[in-house]
Amino acid sequence: MLRRWTTGIVAGVVSIGVAAAVERSVEVVHWWTSGSEAAALNVLKEDMQKRGYSWKSSPIAGGGGGQARVVLRARMAAGTPPDAMQMLGFTIVDYANEGLLGDLSGVAAKEGWDRVVPAPLQRFSKDRRGHWVAAPMNIHRTNWIWANKAIFDELKISPPKTFDELMAISARIRQAGYIPLAHGGQAWQEATLFDSAVMSAGGPDFYRKAMIDLDAKALGSPTMEKAFEQMKKLRTLVDPDFAGRDWDAATAMVINKKAAMQIMGDWAKGEFLKAGMQPNVDFLCFQYPGTEGDFIFNADQFAMSNPRRIWPFAKSAVLVEPQGQQNREEQLVAQTELASAILDPSFQEAFSLIKGSIPARTDVPDARFDLCGKKSMADLKMAIKSNTMVGSFAHGHAMPESVKEAVYVVVSRAFNSDGSSADAVKQLVRVVRAAK
Ligand code: BGC
Repeated sequence: MLRRWTTGIVAGVVSIGVAAAVERSVEVVHWWTSGSEAAALNVLKEDMQKRGYSWKSSPIAGGGGGQARVVLRARMAAGTPPDAMQMLGFTIVDYANEGLLGDLSGVAAKEGWDRVVPAPLQRFSKDRRGHWVAAPMNIHRTNWIWANKAIFDELKISPPKTFDELMAISARIRQAGYIPLAHGGQAWQEATLFDSAVMSAGGPDFYRKAMIDLDAKALGSPTMEKAFEQMKKLRTLVDPDFAGRDWDAATAMVINKKAAMQIMGDWAKGEFLKAGMQPNVDFLCFQYPGTEGDFIFNADQFAMSNPRRIWPFAKSAVLVEPQGQQNREEQLVAQTELASAILDPSFQEAFSLIKGSIPARTDVPDARFDLCGKKSMADLKMAIKSNTMVGSFAHGHAMPESVKEAVYVVVSRAFNSDGSSADAVKQLVRVVRAAK
């Protein structure tokens, strides 16, 4: 699709050798459909247009990317992959190991990506041979709470330092007629709460043991029971209409002063900013109680479909040889250009300023970031130093996809049913053992 025949005649029936105008274009699959997400992606679109490419955006709605992953699998199976696709964590590694992704090692070496991208993130940007297969766009953090400042001021409450304090201020919020916690009842959003609950219950070492090492003892421990206990208490703070609600609709409840808080990754900040709100003036950002300084990361990356692979039904393949081959070379050039645009320090800054994230490169200055961004950048530095930068379970950076899906079910069931936390822990141990 990078080289499109513009004669208006289907390529297969064009006689070989007919010259045609060439349009350089790039198609990207992603799930950035909220206002701030689309605005952030627009920065990349404009950068690519400046580099001479037309931009084809293929958005698949659905926060967290569950739907996008299904569509992507289908397109891979059908042999019609896009040039580039938004991907997270283990999905990238899985695709790479199946030979579906292009190798970005050349541009990565030339631009020194190894030196500027944190190692815990690089683990998800490379295949098993250590070749770069994805371009990191940003770093998000999941253990945040976003609050409506006017409600906090009105009730003279401040950010809770402990989980008990969170429950205590929530009681006052409810009494005053507001919803304490804006929540969307979708499995990935419940999993996002669980990231924080596990960290709060046990700290970074426990989080790593349980969620990343999948250690049976940690998974079945009283500490894990505490995490489920928190989930059950959080469930009491939401409104009756939470089922199926999108994450940005939940953020809008905080923006519109219907709800006081939302526990969500910092893509939520993008929505506050888009609504013209400022941190510490209109909204507050603070860590989920008990996770101060801890850094649970999620990072968006763009991986490229492998231009060396034969995709039977990709547009490139309907071109008659040798143009088909040439087309693949052009795709490679375009993908390299896109990867280079993504790692450009000024893109990294501009994108994250809108998206709510921080740059994936650690050498971008924090000067233009707001106080939530600055805090994230400082906490990340510390977490890298102390080796406590841990991947988000909810967003595919802790455990392989199949295990994650099984744990999603346990977590959502625990949140939405009256079963005991002790039972949830037992189910957790069982499903992880079976899915591993
Ligand atoms: C992505 C974010 C996105 C969020 C909501 C996460 O999985 O990493 O970039 O904003 O989902 O759609």
